[in-house]
Amino acid sequence: MDYITSTAALSLLLGGLGVFGLFRLLQWMRMKAYLRSAVVVITGATSGLGRECAKAFHAAGAKLVLCGRNVEALEELTRELAASPASQGKTHRPLTVAFDLADPESIAPAAARILQCFGHVDILVNNAGISYRGTIADTKVDVDRRVMEINYFGPVALTKALLPSMVTRRQGHIVAISSVQGKISIPFRSAYMDKNTAQGRSPAEVAQEVLAAVRKKKKDVVVADLVPSLAIYLRTLAPRVFFSIMASRARKERKPKNS
Ligand SMILES: NC(=O)c1ccc[n+]([C@@H]2O[C@H](COP(=O)([O-])OP(=O)(O)OC[C@H]3O[C@@H](n4cnc5c(N)ncnc54)[C@H](OP(=O)(O)O)[C@@H]3O)[C@@H](O)[C@H]2O)c1
Repeated sequence: MDYITSTAALSLLLGGLGVFGLFRLLQWMRMKAYLRSAVVVITGATSGLGRECAKAFHAAGAKLVLCGRNVEALEELTRELAASPASQGKTHRPLTVAFDLADPESIAPAAARILQCFGHVDILVNNAGISYRGTIADTKVDVDRRVMEINYFGPVALTKALLPSMVTRRQGHIVAISSVQGKISIPFRSAYMDKNTAQGRSPAEVAQEVLAAVRKKKKDVVVADLVPSLAIYLRTLAPRVFFSIMASRARKERKPKNS
């Protein structure tokens, strides 16, 4: 009797795993097919992560609208993608829309031009952003305003301008690229150009993570090594410990190099 019960339980477990595996496979195939013809808008496509996202989504077959301010860099990327091996007859030639996220007046006309490119938008990747390093006391409010305009208000305005068409079609993804520093604050920096960047993930690796996250419809993905990932949990679970580590780090970084 016991033998029969455990065999039945094992069959049930294996059956359940099989159904789950099949479900995940079907889900993956559906997303792969969706990306093959999805209209993907990438801001900040002229360099770094945005450029790598453009390559990754282009290789996946998406119809791209590439954004940035630098028209020449956008055109050069378009030519590069069109000539890439992934393009051989299977991909769509990317289109470009140049505008300045810091200029509130330019967002609505840019959104209209974006929508004209392929008629709709399936995925908006809000990637463009600037960084800054400095102490709070030495940083002029104008700098804070500019960072917020480009990294926050510009993307919010663009998202709001594109959202109604997504709602009408009952389809759309919005991807917000931020930093670990969007979750925790680190002394002296919202900057990414410090020594940690060189040791971190390459933009090409992160772009693949972004593509995978969209495919799996993940809500929140942290692409970071162990220490920053742990710091995010520490900030929530043990804030006192987190702040004392950060205070000690700030003291160390404030010391002149030769002392
Ligand atoms: N690099 C890192 O280590 C790191 C780490 C964590 C998170 N991130 C995040 O990843 C994203 C990309 O970072 P990245 O290092 O790849 O940046 P990046 O190489 O400096 O590229 C920034 C992009 O943003 C665009 N941009 C800047 N100002 C703009 C404006 N006023 N209007 C429109 N576009 C503007 C630039 O295009 P134009 O010059 O053509 O305008 C450029 O394509 C950012 O959101 C950043 O916060 C980066």
